[in-house]
Amino acid sequence: MADATITVDTSQRIGVINPDIYGHFIEHLGRCINGGIWAEMLPWTVGVRNPDVLAHLEHDVEAGAHIRLRLLRDDALFRGVSHGGLCVRAGGAYSLQCSVQTSGKVRQIRISLGGATVTRSAPAGRWERLDVQLPARWDADDAALTIAACGSGELLVREASLMPAEARARGGLRSDVLDMVKLINPPVIRWPGGCFADAYQWRDGIGPRDRRPVRFEPAWRDFEPNDFGTNEYITWCRAVETEPYICVNTGSASAEDAAAWVQYCNGPAASEWGRARAEEGYPTPHGVKYWGIGNETYGSWEIGNVPAADYARLFVQFAERMRAADPDIKLIAVGADPVAHPDWNRTVLEIAGEAMDYLAVHWYGPHKRDDAKQSEMYHSIVAAPLDIDRRLRLVAATIDEVMGEGSGVGIAFDEWNVWLDATGDTGIAERYELRDGLFAAGVFNCMHRLCDRVTMANLAQLVNVLPAIVTSPSAAWGTPLYHAFRLYTGSCQPVCVACETDGPTFSSPEFGNIPAMPDVPYLDASATASEDGQVLALSVVNRHMTDDLSAQITLADGRTISSATAAELSGESARATGSEAAPDAVSISLADVDASGDTFTHTFPAHSATVITLGLE
Ligand code: AHR
Repeated sequence: MADATITVDTSQRIGVINPDIYGHFIEHLGRCINGGIWAEMLPWTVGVRNPDVLAHLEHDVEAGAHIRLRLLRDDALFRGVSHGGLCVRAGGAYSLQCSVQTSGKVRQIRISLGGATVTRSAPAGRWERLDVQLPARWDADDAALTIAACGSGELLVREASLMPAEARARGGLRSDVLDMVKLINPPVIRWPGGCFADAYQWRDGIGPRDRRPVRFEPAWRDFEPNDFGTNEYITWCRAVETEPYICVNTGSASAEDAAAWVQYCNGPAASEWGRARAEEGYPTPHGVKYWGIGNETYGSWEIGNVPAADYARLFVQFAERMRAADPDIKLIAVGADPVAHPDWNRTVLEIAGEAMDYLAVHWYGPHKRDDAKQSEMYHSIVAAPLDIDRRLRLVAATIDEVMGEGSGVGIAFDEWNVWLDATGDTGIAERYELRDGLFAAGVFNCMHRLCDRVTMANLAQLVNVLPAIVTSPSAAWGTPLYHAFRLYTGSCQPVCVACETDGPTFSSPEFGNIPAMPDVPYLDASATASEDGQVLALSVVNRHMTDDLSAQITLADGRTISSATAAELSGESARATGSEAAPDAVSISLADVDASGDTFTHTFPAHSATVITLGLE
């Protein structure tokens, strides 16, 4: 006899799943954008070992980093500065762009990297833009880019940028990351934060890239070079084939600033800010549909933290101005976790409900790590989707109470993830295990069931920070979260249909902010069907840490099975994780499935997520 039963009825439609639930989020934080998505290999750190050279790095907020190099000896030797720690590959071409100026008796400039050398005559008394290709001759993980000169006098270098030439040709976008993102088909990607958004001045990120200011950004307390701004983000979204979603600053910018940003993105080339965009090479409006107004404004950590009523009034003001710039945009308001902030959502909805299209909610847990308690951590994290389900239903109930049923205000679950103890100091580079991929699969099952309420969701985050994708200087690979996205976006269907599971359960312990929960099903299933009802995808997470579990699966609607395939996300243990050396330690494989008629039995391996795809007659 099977351990459990799963009964599916395709004639009972729960609702249509908005594809935007498989969305993502990128933020200027840690190595998500700079060092992840964006291919820049600098900023410059100066190394000088020659006593005849003096050099120092000056930071100028208007013009970024300058290197000022004083050469003391007037002879034929090249002396200069170098930036080490660069990863180059033989045969790869690297593109250096910078501006240089010389004075005194400097005669020539020489640039070298990975065995490639380029020499140019010195531009005395004027800035000259250099754009050189450096074909590396050997592999090195600690190569140095050197800029040197001969003669005596001063060499000034500014706006230096080094990228693989192929990334430069793609507008500065890292190709391996881009290709991996495309494989999970993201419908929508939120940017520029997060906490970063509430301090971001969007005008810093437009105009010629090499003239943009480097700013100290207060949210994560780091320097922001502003290389990746609005047009780079839109270019990346177009390359990824995703819908942009911009979150505007309510912490240190005004409603007028936000409206100008909407006009910059969506206004005709004849409008004030649309003209600025057109002059930068984008005459066609970007057509950004989704706009968030502020981020986590309820939090004491947030720049712009205010009480709910103040935020709601601010939202209405921002919404009016932004819609005057483009009446077709969809607006997302800051909502809060209903348990931690019980009154926030009601107040915001009462004042601003009519002006919003979505109310945002975030969830992270357990905010704790205890490596001596692996079993507790595992069971709590894989059970957490039940707690998320409960919280999202509370938010939905408040929307209905304040706005009335069918009001059309959707829930944007626009930051969610497992977050143990990684901190801002380490760029929140959490290291995920198969356990966390099973958590993500459980969240997808929960969102399928809540499809009429949760109309957008965004994993936080896509690259290197709480990551779906991890990069090193020379490689990119998927975490178990990434593979959960691949599994679900590759197989699940658009309509959620009735699916009942009956089987063994466990009690999950309290761990960090995840409460203890009784009766957590080991097998968690959701069923989705194609619009024409010909294809059924059954998504099943086996949360058992050590045991395979079998289920008798029955179609209760008189349909019969004509074909069956199964894709399985699994790994050696619940702790398995991908790495640069073993990127496929957690991966998706095809599994055997023997199904015909209207009932069959399938065994789900311990700590796995499976999507069984059935053709129906
Ligand atoms: O995703 C990391 C941070 O977590 C976001 O910037 C913020 O919105 C949340 O607190």
